[in-house]
Amino acid sequence: MSASSHSPQPLASRRGKPLAGRVRVPGDKSISHRSLLLGLLAVGQTKVEGLLEGEDVLRTADAVKALGARVERLAPGSWRIDGVGVGGLSQPAAVLDFGNAGTGSRLTMGVVGGHPIAATFDGDASLRKRPMRRIIDPLVKMGVTVVAEAEGGRCPLTIRGPRETIPIVYETPVASAQIKSAILLAGLNAPGETTVIEHEASRDHTERMLRHFGATVRVEKVGADGRKITLEGQPELNPGNVVVPADPSSAAFPLVAAAIVPGSDVILESVMTNPLRTGLIETLREMGVGIEILDRRDNGGEEVADLRVRGRGLSGVDVPAARAPSMIDEYPILAVAAAFAEGDTRMRGLHELRVKESDRLAAVADGLRAAGVEAVIEGDDLIVHGAAGAVPGGGTAATHLDHRIAMAFLVLGLASRTPMRIDDGAMIATSFPSFVPLMTALGADIG
Ligand code: S3P
Repeated sequence: MSASSHSPQPLASRRGKPLAGRVRVPGDKSISHRSLLLGLLAVGQTKVEGLLEGEDVLRTADAVKALGARVERLAPGSWRIDGVGVGGLSQPAAVLDFGNAGTGSRLTMGVVGGHPIAATFDGDASLRKRPMRRIIDPLVKMGVTVVAEAEGGRCPLTIRGPRETIPIVYETPVASAQIKSAILLAGLNAPGETTVIEHEASRDHTERMLRHFGATVRVEKVGADGRKITLEGQPELNPGNVVVPADPSSAAFPLVAAAIVPGSDVILESVMTNPLRTGLIETLREMGVGIEILDRRDNGGEEVADLRVRGRGLSGVDVPAARAPSMIDEYPILAVAAAFAEGDTRMRGLHELRVKESDRLAAVADGLRAAGVEAVIEGDDLIVHGAAGAVPGGGTAATHLDHRIAMAFLVLGLASRTPMRIDDGAMIATSFPSFVPLMTALGADIG
């Protein structure tokens, strides 16, 4: 959504009956972006089933077309990409407008950076605030030229890839799958090996999908939690079929809703349970939420399971910083669960939340205060004083163009004493367009 075309959509949610039913949330956003980009980089036809048709992913589909692939929607969630292969990209004729999408823009910077073409990246007011140097710095080491950038290394940003990409060894300064992925994607066109070292493992969907498309990727352990990932450059990528599992970061909203609305019993179908994405489930279980993991199975290279969650009392916990990469997008909704818990919850090491779609640390603390919940930021930690089920509500959360802030505070209103409002629900369409109807189907009162 461009800043110019955006009209705010206020929404409210109210307490009602227990939530019940079986639902499947849409496809994983991370895997959806990657399936389109690898489809572009393979020679021939890639088929994707269960693609998330949210605004963010549709922007990546547009970019993939602008870079030379044919992209067709065959049926809902079912897409075909006719790729041009590594080295075969065309220079886009117009600016690549990524709307709100940090992942789409940053991964595509890596793809463009591995080709001797120039492209301009832009997006909405939220994307224009997000730091891009973390992506551009390693790409410059690989031979990329920054032709133009807004102050502080931000969008609108124009880069040009080199004639010959330089293979590098790069230690990421923060655990970030976006930085890792941009480097690996640029490294596809480098002669020789490109290596990324991360001291805390971030989501590994790029590595898994590169292998699925025929690239050689080696992964070694580094220290207790880190990894060293090495890609052999200039592979011939074969088109691979991709089945996108349900997004655990979207499932997080009905999951916590069922945990805080007493008497609820909800089953979330086919949720991806990749261990680098399941920090929220681990934390909610520590808080006392009853989550059963049913029928674990493989779904096109990623493990999925059905999750059954039943509402009962929650207790505050201390969430270690080391868990952050495995639940980085789930802190807004975890903070809502913490608001209903008995006792304090301390979430440690949340510095990366300041550079998401909004400054999520501030947006979460402000929204909780608007709901009558005490929340304190101490350094990079967020401390929520749980109201033991008795959350007042009654306020309006400011969402700052951030889909996850919007959904988190609508969930809060499903169990607070008085209704909760948000100033704008329009951004929910970036990652979870069916959020309101799906929650309504479970019995939630949102509108
Ligand atoms: C993503 C990585 C994470 C996450 C984002 C999706 C990805 O960002 O917050 O929503 O698909 O690679 P960082 O890698 O910057 O932490």
